[in-house]
This record gives sequence, structure tokens and C-alpha cells, in this order.
Amino acid sequence: MSEKILNIAHLSAEYRTDDGVSSVLNDISISLEKGETLGLVGETGAGKTTTALAVMRLLPKHTGFITGGDIEFAEAGSLLARTEAEMRAIRGHRISMIFQDPMTSLNPVLRIGDQIKESFKIHMPDLSDEEMEQKVDQMLEMVGIPASRKREYPHQFSGGMKQRVVIAIALSLEPELLIADEPTTALDVTIQAQVLHMMRQLKKNLGTSMILITHDLGIVSQNCDKVAVMYAGTIVESGTAEELFLSESHHPYTVGLFGSIPDMKKQTKRLSPIDGLMPDPMDLPTGCVFHPRCPKCMEKCKCEVPKEVTVDGQHVIRCHLFEEVERHV
Ligand SMILES: Nc1ncnc2c1ncn2[C@@H]1O[C@H](COP(=O)(O)OP(=O)(O)O)[C@@H](O)[C@H]1O
Ligand code: SF4
Ligand SMILES: [Mg+2]
Repeated sequence: MSEKILNIAHLSAEYRTDDGVSSVLNDISISLEKGETLGLVGETGAGKTTTALAVMRLLPKHTGFITGGDIEFAEAGSLLARTEAEMRAIRGHRISMIFQDPMTSLNPVLRIGDQIKESFKIHMPDLSDEEMEQKVDQMLEMVGIPASRKREYPHQFSGGMKQRVVIAIALSLEPELLIADEPTTALDVTIQAQVLHMMRQLKKNLGTSMILITHDLGIVSQNCDKVAVMYAGTIVESGTAEELFLSESHHPYTVGLFGSIPDMKKQTKRLSPIDGLMPDPMDLPTGCVFHPRCPKCMEKCKCEVPKEVTVDGQHVIRCHLFEEVERHV
């Protein structure tokens, strides 16, 4: 029996600054079952980090606002209805996030080993001090840092090493949902493979669900059960990884992003640039948000917002081209 762990339904969010209002998430829906990994892909500025922060209820105070929809987490129900104290209890233990810029997540005055141990103290209080020290050593070795360096402070570590410590802490918490925001982008290939291996182990052993925000299609094809492609605050295409890799039907943005779909299986293939720029969320295009860059743009794309169309199973595309297909079936 599948068990829903996360249900983001019609979520909208905006940033309000002195310059104006940015509509950063516009009616996005994502659902995740226990043990599933979802790959969230899209160019910089699409709203991926904002989606993750919204789930953590960590949008910047006084600037970031959820303006519609809901986020439900396991039996806890709506996260939007939780108090800050309740959210603190959920963060870390139940939902853990590896931030895109993890350098700021470490405490500069605590030794590296003690910071990892801290999370064991909270999460596994029954362990003896010796067992905790052993686990700290294990965690460090797993992310490629000699255990002998655990008594050092963050400033003695390189950027990449600090990032690996942050990853070790997030994984050691054994959360039910792990949100990893481009966790391996700055790591070398060997360490990247080790970190991804650890994440897969976590999923296998504990049934951890994950949202993996990444630019690397190799990572998507090797680690993700589902994929959501995001553009200008909208999920333009989503489905199981298999459906996306095998289907011939794709949103024009996905086609542009992936170059050609068969290449999606190639491990080293990265997202390819598309002509033009992501629109400013303060001034989104009317109709289909992708229309100014779309090679297939039709007259109605400029004024009518396309609806989500299920093309097959869980495979959903938000594009007028597919509304036509659906009508003629
Ligand atoms: N704190 C903020 N205040 C105002 N705008 C922001 C803030 N954070 C992000 N944005 C804007 O929101 C949009 C989405 O950003 P983000 O969620 O970081 O996208 P991604 O992670 O896909 O690159 C971008 O246009 C970005 O400039
Ligand atoms: S709705 Fe129109 S502009 Fe948007 S992606 Fe589809 S064809 Fe292109
Ligand atoms: Mg981001």
C-alpha cells in the first residue's frame, strides 16, 4: 500500500519587496509517496528553492508569503496550519533540508564532530557517548573526511568539506522527508557518487522520501522515481521518471531543456541552455509563461493560461498543444 508523505496542492507564493511583488510560485502541485524520490529540475530562478523553503516553512519573514493552496505532510496534515513551535519539532527530525548554500548552516564556534554529535544526541539519545563518537567518525568517513579532523572548526575546512559535513548532519538525522537543494553541485565526482549512494541507502533502509533539486540529468535518471520540470513558478511537466524518459510527448520547455529526450539517459548530460531568459517574476508574461521563448507558440498561448493535461498515467503537461490532442482523442 502506498502512503502519501507530501501533498503540495495548488501552492502559490510571492516575495514582496520595495521593488514590487514577485509571483514566484503559481499554482504548483506535487505529490510524493513514502520512499519515493522526486527530481525537481529547471533553470535558475524557476522557483525550486522557494518551493523547498515553503515546505520547510522557512520563507524569509516579512518578504515571502504563501498566497494560496496547501502543503500536507504525512499524518501531520497541513503544514501551513502548524505553529512555529510545531514546525521546529518537524524540521530536522521529520523533514530535513540540505540547503543550496550550506556554508552558512554550520556553527562557527562548534567543532565539526560536536556538530554532528549534536544531531545524534537529539535523535538517538539512547546511544552511549562512545557509540555516538563512532557514528560521528563513520558519518565523516562516509562523506570522505578523515575522522581525525573532527576536532577542527568550520573555518579550517574548505567549502566542499563544509558542504559534506552539512550533508552528513542531514542524513544522520534519518528524516522521513529529505529535501536536497543541489546538494552535490560543488562536489567532485567521487564524493558526489558517495553522497548519492548514502542517500539511496537511506531510502532503501528507512524508506526515506526525497525531493532532489538538481541540474544533472544523470542524477535524475539514476535516483528519481518522479520528475517535475519547473519554469517561472509553474510545473510545466511532471510524471514518473519512466514516463518522462520513454514518452514522445513533452512540453516545449522540457524539450529545450533536455536538448533531445533520448539523451536524458546519458549520465553526463547536463541541462542545455535555451535562447532567451527566464521572465522576471514581477512581470510575468500573460497566457503561457513560456510563450516568449516557445518555438511552437500559437496566438492563444499569448493570452490563455494552459491547463494541466494528463497525457498518460501520471504524466501531466501544461501546454495548449496537448489540450488539442486531448480534445481530439
Ligand atoms: N528573498 C527573496 N526576495 C525577493 N525575491 C526572491 C527572493 N528569493 C528568491 N527570489 C526570486 O524568486 C525567484 C525564484 O527564485 P528561487 O526559488 O531561488 O529559484 P531557483 O531555486 O529555481 O533558482 C527568482 O526570480 C528570485 O530572484
Ligand atoms: S502553451 Fe503555447 S507557448 Fe506555451 S509551451 Fe505550449 S505551445 Fe508553447
Ligand atoms: Mg535554487
